[in-house]
Amino acid sequence: MDTAYRTPYVRPSRNPPPVIGQTGRTMNHFALPDGAGIDLARFPADPRDPLRAWDASDDYLLQHLADGEVSVDGLEGRLVILGDRWGALATALAAHAPVQITDSYLAQRATAENLARNGHPAHAVELRSSRDEPPARVDVLLVRVPKSLALLEDQLLRLAPAIHAGTVVVGTGMVAEIHTSTLELFERVLGPTRTSLARRKARLIFCTPDPEVLGARPANPWPQRYPFPPGVPGAGARLAGTTVTNHAGIFSAERLDIGTRFFLEHLPTPARGHHVVDLGCGNGVLGLAAALTAPGAELTFLDESFGAVASAEETFRANADPATRARFVVADGASGLAPASVDLVLNNPPFHSYQAATDATAHRMFADAKRALRPGGELWVVGNRHLGYHVRLKRIFGNCRTVVGNPKFVILQAVKKG
Ligand SMILES: C[S@@+](CC[C@H](N)C(=O)[O-])C[C@H]1O[C@@H](n2cnc3c(N)ncnc32)[C@H](O)[C@@H]1O
Repeated sequence: MDTAYRTPYVRPSRNPPPVIGQTGRTMNHFALPDGAGIDLARFPADPRDPLRAWDASDDYLLQHLADGEVSVDGLEGRLVILGDRWGALATALAAHAPVQITDSYLAQRATAENLARNGHPAHAVELRSSRDEPPARVDVLLVRVPKSLALLEDQLLRLAPAIHAGTVVVGTGMVAEIHTSTLELFERVLGPTRTSLARRKARLIFCTPDPEVLGARPANPWPQRYPFPPGVPGAGARLAGTTVTNHAGIFSAERLDIGTRFFLEHLPTPARGHHVVDLGCGNGVLGLAAALTAPGAELTFLDESFGAVASAEETFRANADPATRARFVVADGASGLAPASVDLVLNNPPFHSYQAATDATAHRMFADAKRALRPGGELWVVGNRHLGYHVRLKRIFGNCRTVVGNPKFVILQAVKKG
């Protein structure tokens, strides 16, 4: 570790003591640098989930703070934590009343539950989303480097007006997540930046804000918009001439994804008055296409990314008939939909949760969709052929039909039986 760099001492909170699960210390017990620990889980918590709610980069950052010499206790201003995956940093530092900023609803819910799990009141951490107004002043900025460089760019640029020459900025991430472009971004927006040595495959980023750099920072290029490409047949033809809005970090923000394109070519036409859900909506092109092909349909756009839901709403408002009824909801899958309230669910499921490949989210989405569908209602799914979604769907719905396939993708239909 680079010892030449001093950061303020931010003592990880250990009061009140962690609540240990009934089975005693589990693999969810995260040991803090001072020997205490906290219990953490991802959201939604699943005892069969082998994935931990923190990694070596969280550990490295907390260790670095505990090694610091200057106390931030009593400092005016704010500790802001950007990109905390499952609330490990916010929970460990809850005694410092941090503001957590994330684009992920799952991260927010995990943080809230981890705070409660460890005896902290809900207000111990101020939860803000990537779309909320950033705090007016930031004195310590801790950045868990996100998977998306675009999201980091957007968030640093949004926070820049609140950062001053005295702001302490420390980033953390796994070595594989920190690239030259990551460091260049810190340099371009905030000021001189360097990294620590790697430890357990994690690295820290040290950035010294420079008022000159802050003053000359580039304009925020997000959100970005692209014209929907011509020549997509089927429901895609209805999108020709539309403009698609993409906030930073959302799925396929720069161009139409090829799986989405294939889905648009074969999208079903909803009946008049039907309730259609675009589940995991991203920028919302699937739901928009359904609305344009079936005037009178009612739409719900759902995603766990705040930026995705904002993108879907802007894309829809710019292109759909204003009389079309539409809701835009940040949520975990379709879990919040009323049972038997939906006629058609359109789903291009995610298949990565950070670096860990998992189809658990897709499975949850399918089961939730079944609950939300009316008898006779349909779930349509596009996916990579090799993911084998048909097996899951058959197990959940008792039926699954391959509508169409190409060498890479399949479109599947499952019907809720009465
Ligand atoms: C493969 S992308 C599809 C986006 C868009 N429907 C399209 O086809 O371009 C999957 C989407 O699912 C969202 N997602 C991931 N986990 C989710 C969850 N638990 N609940 C809701 N949405 C989720 C992601 O944010 C992402 O926008």
